[in-house]
Amino acid sequence: MANNKYLDIIKSQRKTNKKEKFRGTFLEYLSLVEEDSSITDHSHKRLYECIVEQGVERLEDSNPRKHKLFDGDNLKTYQYFQEEFFGMEKVIAKVMRFLRSAALKGEESRQVLLLMGPVGAGKSALTEHIKRALEGHSYYHLEGDPQRGEPLQLIPRSLRKQMNELLDTTIEGDISPVARYVLMEEYGGEYEKFVVKETTFSQRARRGIASVPPMDANSQDVSVLIGSEDISKLDKYSEDDPRSLSLNGAFNVGNRGIVELVEVFKNEIEFLHTIITATQEKRVPAPGKHDMLYFDGVIWAHCNESEWNRFQSEHTNEAILDRIVKIDVPYILELEQEIKIYEKILGRSNFDIHIAPHTLRIASMFSILSRLQESQKCDLLTKLKIYNGEEVVEKGRVKKIDIKDLREEGDNEGMTGISTRFIMKAIDNALSDSDKEFITPVSMLDSLMKQCKEQIINKDFQNRCLDLIRNTVRSEYLRLLENEIAKAFITAYEEQAQAIFENYLDNAEAFTTKCKMKDRITKEQMEPDEDFMKSIEGAIGVSNAGREGFRADVTAYMFAKMRRGERVDYTSYEPLKEAIEVYLISSVKDLARIVTKSKTRDDEQRAKYSDMVQTLMDEYGYTPESAEEVLVYASNNLWRDS
Ligand SMILES: Nc1ncnc2c1ncn2[C@@H]1O[C@H](COP(=O)(O)OP(=O)(O)OP(=O)(O)O)[C@@H](O)[C@H]1O
Ligand SMILES: [Mg+2]
Repeated sequence: MANNKYLDIIKSQRKTNKKEKFRGTFLEYLSLVEEDSSITDHSHKRLYECIVEQGVERLEDSNPRKHKLFDGDNLKTYQYFQEEFFGMEKVIAKVMRFLRSAALKGEESRQVLLLMGPVGAGKSALTEHIKRALEGHSYYHLEGDPQRGEPLQLIPRSLRKQMNELLDTTIEGDISPVARYVLMEEYGGEYEKFVVKETTFSQRARRGIASVPPMDANSQDVSVLIGSEDISKLDKYSEDDPRSLSLNGAFNVGNRGIVELVEVFKNEIEFLHTIITATQEKRVPAPGKHDMLYFDGVIWAHCNESEWNRFQSEHTNEAILDRIVKIDVPYILELEQEIKIYEKILGRSNFDIHIAPHTLRIASMFSILSRLQESQKCDLLTKLKIYNGEEVVEKGRVKKIDIKDLREEGDNEGMTGISTRFIMKAIDNALSDSDKEFITPVSMLDSLMKQCKEQIINKDFQNRCLDLIRNTVRSEYLRLLENEIAKAFITAYEEQAQAIFENYLDNAEAFTTKCKMKDRITKEQMEPDEDFMKSIEGAIGVSNAGREGFRADVTAYMFAKMRRGERVDYTSYEPLKEAIEVYLISSVKDLARIVTKSKTRDDEQRAKYSDMVQTLMDEYGYTPESAEEVLVYASNNLWRDS
């Protein structure tokens, strides 16, 4: 009985999968083209359309990244990449610009696209995703033609102009020698009878998608690219008989679609000469004494920087260099986006373990810091925050550092540092080492240190990394943790913050407009509360001389926002938000320290402590165990002076 269940599943899948595919004469194919000439699109156009048809958007004006990080650039974003790639909008925009120009038959259609970037920057992942865009789409070709060429190539030159007009297409190239042989021998030259087939792109079945792995010098054999002569057939057929050809190289398989050259410059240069003719003349050599074959495909390569530099430095490579459009794929320097990468990868793994708040954040913080170059304008952590679109407050003002200036200062920033793979390994190690059901930033920091010691060979870089973890990342984590614990001690934190905000705003307004305030309950007139305002301002170090300006700024900012009909709350103006936060948190710091550290708590303290742990769980996403671990860490590492 059980067997029937499986048979049913198999049968019903087979039925739904079997969409009738076209198979008919060339004459019938012409009617198809007449209906929809896009089926004859050349490879670049086809690939471009496959991606674009999934949706194109512009960054919305309301998206803060648009202004802060992309200089207001009206960048296009493509739905097809949205769920898979993070922080790579600029790289993707360049790739799509290449494909678009190539689709319009610009010079790009005769060039190789080369992704160049450091290890683990996402080059292979991006390439795989691009290839997958074709998967399952249809194309038409001559039956029995290993090159799977466009059937319209059957039309003789003398008829092409007329046919192009009738069919609204452009016929390019000639049929392969194998197809020509079939045409003569089987159809007696009557090409209108040639059978045309519909096929779907498939990497696994090697239809329209080909991938060439790098090969060592000894085993390099051009047959991988262009196929070979089948020796076993050579005693049956003469040397120039196309039936002896075995056209199964990458430029045969990838015709009409895409040929990927993995780590392209690991190959010897001789090996790469095929790409010269493939790009410029759209023809590739055939094995033996046969004529060249027409080739229409996207040629897509990737490599890392050292290989590129080596290749580029040899002037004998000029011919190939001239046919390459290089797109840099740097590491991500935007914290929020880097975090999303690990969330994505973890989401797909089988680990089913609780990951405490900030764990992926501090791992990502480390990788990004390792990629940044020192700046004259600010410290590395500040740079990281500015690159992340955050506002950094100093002495009551948002620090005015232009992200553009920071970027220009660094030369080649993002091309070196810790890779995504390194971080993934550290996360995996922390997960699998953990005999517990959770990991926290505490175990993450350990795992990162260990990984640096074991995996980084260059001593200078290793020391720099260890220093970043021990000092910068760790102290930033302690700061986050201290704030979080203190916040968790404050009942109804948000409401309290909002109440202080409103009170401050009333006071600052009265002060700035030189008016009296009205008590909300007694309606009594009173002077603005100088002490209260000072205590807030003092929290972020606004100087005596700066007070008046700060109050005027806050008032002006809030009223401008309200006039535009926007909602204001305590988070609206970054400096004030920070001031309120610091003010509130410092009001409970002592309590947090005493209650968290003490080994014996009285009843009241015990109640406070368990309320706090509850808040960590309910509002910040800890489990009882992970909260326990970070609290122990806090009492051993924070508040050490007491
Ligand atoms: N910006 C990103 N968005 C999403 N995932 C990313 C991003 N960058 C890297 N990854 C992920 O990191 C992993 C490593 O990337 P990939 O293998 O593509 O790197 P690579 O550039 O080909 O490196 P190598 O030069 O070592 O071959 C992949 O799982 C990929 O999905
Ligand atoms: Mg790769």
